[in-house]
Amino acid sequence: MGKEPVRVLVTGAAGQIGYALVPMIARGVMLGSDQPIILHMLDIEPATEALNGVKMELVDAAFPLLMDVIATTDAMVACKGVNIAVMVGGFPRKEGMERKDVMSKNVSIYKAQASALEKQAAPDCKVLVVANPANTNALILKEFAPSIPEKNITCLTRLDHNRALGQLSERLKIHVGQVKNVIIWGNHSSTQYPDVNHATVTPTNSEEKPVRSVVADDNWLNTEFVTTVQQRGAAIIKARKLSSALSAASAACDHIRDWVLGTPKGTWVSMGVYSDGSYGIQSGIIYSFPVTCDKGQWSIFQGLKIDDFSREKMDATAKELVEEKTLAYSCLN
Ligand code: NAD
Ligand code: LMR
Repeated sequence: MGKEPVRVLVTGAAGQIGYALVPMIARGVMLGSDQPIILHMLDIEPATEALNGVKMELVDAAFPLLMDVIATTDAMVACKGVNIAVMVGGFPRKEGMERKDVMSKNVSIYKAQASALEKQAAPDCKVLVVANPANTNALILKEFAPSIPEKNITCLTRLDHNRALGQLSERLKIHVGQVKNVIIWGNHSSTQYPDVNHATVTPTNSEEKPVRSVVADDNWLNTEFVTTVQQRGAAIIKARKLSSALSAASAACDHIRDWVLGTPKGTWVSMGVYSDGSYGIQSGIIYSFPVTCDKGQWSIFQGLKIDDFSREKMDATAKELVEEKTLAYSCLN
């Protein structure tokens, strides 16, 4: 007998990430090619016609895994019974805007949607927040949906993780699949710290080696590499006049797939999760850590040695998250 369908919610489904993401989910990219899906799509009233257009295209694509599509502007309807919620809906950053400029618009959206999820979602629902400021939106969602286990609320830093892999692969002229175990620490913002100290490459016909020894240019790794990854979102906005969409959708699929189906042996990935104090990062913020996943649960990978250079950068991005938290609460009051 086939598997029971999984209900996947995508908020902001009429937007540009939504448009890239829903066909990936319906094709099995997120949960596997044998997993039937019921797609729940939420957007706001002004986007009703566009949302219906997306639904029409999903019907026209005749996806074998897609069992049903619910397209609505009612959050309570959209959240009903969902097993996975990908929260993309929100107000995106435009060229020249800082992430803090979009804070007040987004925290009130996340407070309202927290209560819809809490009332309507399946008890084991896994939540991924994509919309910016992603870490702080996820924190607000966690605070206002106290009955959802805190381990079930995460934010997307996998795009940054993939960007770091991509930069190393370009630099070394090797396939991206030959690089692994970079880490994104902290906030999905320009203070994030892409760390290569534990990353490895497996050159063709050779053994796995530390990235630092193969790149052999610490200056590049500590400066240009870090800023390129930190600023990549802004560079995409400058080039496209729109924020990243296909890479964000793909990273959202990677995040959920690894969380649900597990990370490959010997590999960790980056996820924004509620800090438990690991690596000296204070509790009370959603911070990106290296995680491994097994049987639908993530765990922070422990025991990595942190040098002074990394410590400073990890603390700086934590400090920004504490400031964002204060700002978010001041917007809600
Ligand atoms: P977009 O403007 O194209 O789409 C956003 C959609 O959300 C729109 O259709 C809008 O109508 C809808 N929306 C607004 N308020 C809503 C609400 N209350 N409920 C449901 N839907 C609502 O934006 P986009 O380019 O798709 O980006 C979406 C978000 O993702 C932005 O916040 C962007 O900054 C963020 N983003 C995050 C990452 C990441 O790696 N974490 C990467 C790229 C983009
Ligand atoms: C990205 O990393 O591409 C986006 O988060 C950029 C943005 O601010 O929307």
